Amino acid sequence: METLVISANDKQCAETAAELLKQGQLVALPTETVYGLGADGLNPEAVAKIFDAKGRPQDNPLILHIADPKDLEKLCHHIPESAWRLVETFWPGPLTMVLPAKEIVPKCTTAGLPTVAVRCPDNEITRQIIALAGVPIAAPSANLSGKPSTTTAQHVLNDHKGNIPMIVDGGACRVGVESTIVDLTEDTPRLLRPGGITPEQLQAVLGELTVDKAVTAQIDKDAVVKAPGMKYKHYAPQCQVVIVSGSREKAAEYIRRHYTSGDRVLCFQEELPLYAGCNPLSYGKEADVATLSAGLFDALRQLDDPSVHKVYARCPVGGGIAYAVQNRLKKAAAFQIIDGEAAV
Ligand code: TXA
Ligand code: MG
Repeated sequence: METLVISANDKQCAETAAELLKQGQLVALPTETVYGLGADGLNPEAVAKIFDAKGRPQDNPLILHIADPKDLEKLCHHIPESAWRLVETFWPGPLTMVLPAKEIVPKCTTAGLPTVAVRCPDNEITRQIIALAGVPIAAPSANLSGKPSTTTAQHVLNDHKGNIPMIVDGGACRVGVESTIVDLTEDTPRLLRPGGITPEQLQAVLGELTVDKAVTAQIDKDAVVKAPGMKYKHYAPQCQVVIVSGSREKAAEYIRRHYTSGDRVLCFQEELPLYAGCNPLSYGKEADVATLSAGLFDALRQLDDPSVHKVYARCPVGGGIAYAVQNRLKKAAAFQIIDGEAAV
């Protein structure tokens, strides 16, 4: 199959994409977070194609994307007042809410769960396509399962060339990490995945927020967890990734001492001079954490190469969007962290 890459600025783009989606085909769509691999979320045959194309485990449910926040009611029941406050504050935007699913949502979309994850993306062309298709669009991150997420049309093409009919090219994704997921089915809202909307922002609207254990620690692959996707190895290049924490100088001292040929250093732009001779790759500026979230997956994809033996990674500290970057990097590193201050 030929994979068409059509610019979001192309006049025919939205109609062509919507037509394919209505026919039950896959279309890769840009969002403000990452590119998604979209299909008609109410059509089980179309949804099955997503699992096939990604090689995605069947027990990992999909997020439904809607063009109009009001459509939430068509997919969910028992929507608490707090959900509408989140909608009001953050939609369209990088926030996904988990709520009890209505009958209309097929079991393959929710992987058999009684709940469904829904979000309204902050991307003009994609909302236009969803509205034209007239159905909620199921869309996981468009990467092959287990690989770093896709933040450009080229990333999607690298993973799916010849296997999907169309990619909508909307340029590089602004946020760069996937949406924040919050579960609103219990008494206290629960953060299942940090992302573009920060825990601080959520707390300001919700008051209370608990953080799911899958956010902060490695989860056994047989464990029962709230967001099934969080237990899988994710976001990772093929080789071992190790985070080295601590001050710039101490971390550089440790990494330079242990670096051997074939290793790479994933660091902040400000640190590049410290790693001359160690094949460093910067993913953004430590002083501007949004550049780190925007650049992380592109960097991890560059490092996903058989010639790379091991990656020493530097991770931003603190809250806000840094919290989401920490989560993705820790998962890429399978939570292997060396304290550069203490290590020899
Ligand atoms: O930013 C995003 O959310 C991107 C773009 C394309 O919208 N999508 C995305 O989808 O990241 P995906 O499939 O890569 O990640 C969805 C996560 C998985 O960890 C999945 O287990 C979880 O959401 N999830 C989906 N439905 C759920 C549900 N009903 N309950 C709990 N977790 C759910
Ligand atoms: Mg994903």
